[in-house]
Amino acid sequence: MATRQKSANPSPKTETRKSENATIQPATGKLGIMIPGMGAVATTFVAGVEAIRKGLAKPIGSLTQMGTIRLGKRTDHRSPKIKDFLPLARLEDLVFTGWDIFEDDMYSAASKAGVLERELLQQIKPFMSSIKPRKAVFDRNYVKRLDGRNVKKGKNKMELAEQVREDIRDFKKTSGASRLVMIWCGSTEIFLQPTAVHATVKSFEKGLTENDEAIAPSMIYAYASLMEGVPFANGAPNLTADIPVMLELSRRNEAPICGKDFKTGQTLMKTILAPGFKARLLGVSGWYSTNILGNRDGEVLDDPGSFKTKEESKLGVLDHILQPALYPDLYKNIFHKVGINYYPPRGDNKEGWDNIDIFGWLGYPMQIKVDFLCRDSILAAPIVLDLVTFLDLAQRTSELRGLGIQEWLSFYFKSPMTVPGLYPEHDLFIQLMKLKNTLRHLKGEELITHLGLEYYD
Ligand SMILES: NC(=O)c1ccc[n+]([C@@H]2O[C@H](COP(=O)([O-])OP(=O)(O)OC[C@H]3O[C@@H](n4cnc5c(N)ncnc54)[C@H](O)[C@@H]3O)[C@@H](O)[C@H]2O)c1
Repeated sequence: MATRQKSANPSPKTETRKSENATIQPATGKLGIMIPGMGAVATTFVAGVEAIRKGLAKPIGSLTQMGTIRLGKRTDHRSPKIKDFLPLARLEDLVFTGWDIFEDDMYSAASKAGVLERELLQQIKPFMSSIKPRKAVFDRNYVKRLDGRNVKKGKNKMELAEQVREDIRDFKKTSGASRLVMIWCGSTEIFLQPTAVHATVKSFEKGLTENDEAIAPSMIYAYASLMEGVPFANGAPNLTADIPVMLELSRRNEAPICGKDFKTGQTLMKTILAPGFKARLLGVSGWYSTNILGNRDGEVLDDPGSFKTKEESKLGVLDHILQPALYPDLYKNIFHKVGINYYPPRGDNKEGWDNIDIFGWLGYPMQIKVDFLCRDSILAAPIVLDLVTFLDLAQRTSELRGLGIQEWLSFYFKSPMTVPGLYPEHDLFIQLMKLKNTLRHLKGEELITHLGLEYYD
C-alpha cells in the first residue's frame, strides 16, 4: 500500500476529506465517461442514468447509489449510504461520449438493442440522440462477426492511438469535465495471450509502430486512456489491460485500472451458489451450464475465437472458489462445461440453465437445476455505473491512485485482475467484504471482521 499522503493544500472550502489512511479529493465538477462500444450495455447504462436523473426510475442494482455500509459495532446503528459516506461523483455531474464502428447515436443504438421500452426511450430522446459515436479503432481480425464504416484510418497502430488520445483531450475540453474515466463496453475480441510485445511500455510502443498482431484494438484504447492519465475498466473478457505494459502505465500515470468481464447472469449465480456449497462442505461432481442469447453480443460470441475468450473467463471461477487442492474429496473431479448458443428470438433476454450434480453425507448424490431468465444489459448497467464511480474515487484517493489494479473492485468481474503471482478472489461475498472494508479503511473506520465476541464480554 502506498504511504499516507497529506493534501498539498488542505482548505476547508475545498472539502478535502482526510482520514488516518487516505486523503480523498472532493468530486468537484463534471465526470466524463468515455465508452468504446456503444451497444446494448452502454446505451442501457447511459439511458438509465438519464432516466434516474429525471426521476423516471430508480438505480436498482447499484451499490454506489443504493448500498449502505455498516460502521462500528452492530449496537452503534451506523449504516450510512455509501454515497453519503464517501465523496462520489453525483449522477447529475456525469457526461458521456463513446466510440463505435456503427454511426448510430445512442438513441438509435438503444432502440436497435431493444433492451429498454420505447416509451422510456422516448422520454429521454433528445439527450440520447445528442451522444454520437466517435470513429472507432477497429479491425475485423479481432472480431470476426462485425463490420462497420465508422472507423479511424492511420498508417499504423501508433497513429490510431494518437487519434484516440486526441478524442480524449477533445472530449475533456468540449464537455467541460474536470475528470474522465474510460470503460470498455465493446464486443468480445478473439482470444489472445500475453507476448513479449505486452511486456513493457517500450516494447508495446515499438509494437504499435510496427503494427504488431498481438495488439488488439481494445489495447489501443486502454493505452491511449492511461497515457492521458484516465482510469480504465474492461467490461469484456479481452486481454486488453491485463498485461504488464498497462500495469506499468497505470502506476506511472496514477490512472487506476480494473477488469475483466462484467459479472452478470450465469456467472453471478455461480459465484453466489458455489460459496454456499463449499461453506456446507457439499461435494460437486458436475456443473453443466448453457445459455441462449439473441443480441449482438450473442452473435459475436457465436464465433469460436470470441467464444474461447468468454469460455476461459467463465470456466475459471469454480476452481478458485471451490479450491479442489484443499478439498480433494469434494471437488477434485468436477466436470465443468459452459456453452453459449446464439438464438435471435430472445434478443437481450438471455436464458441460462445450470444443472449441478452435488453430493452430501456418505456421498449420496443430489441435483440442483437453475433456470435464470435474465436480462443481460439490465444486470450489467448498474455495474458500469459503480465501476466508473469507484474508479473516479480511486483516482482521487491518495492511497489507491498509484496502485494500478484495483483488486477491491473484483466484486464486479468474472475474471478479476490481480498483480502477477496472486490468484483472484471469485467468491462474491468475500469480494463484497473486501470492497466495503476498503471503503472503511479509506475513511479510517474499523474493519468489520464479524468476530462479535465483544458483545458477550
Ligand atoms: N451484458 C452483459 O451482461 C455482459 C456481461 C459481461 C460482459 N459483457 C461484455 O460487454 C461487451 C458489450 O456487450 P453488449 O451486450 O453491449 O454488446 P453489443 O454487441 O450490443 O455492443 C458492443 C458494441 O461494441 C462495438 N464495437 C466492437 N468493437 C469495437 C471497437 N473496436 N471500437 C468501438 N466499438 C466497437 C460494436 O459495434 C457494438 O455496438 C461485450 O464484450 C460483452 O461480452 C456483457
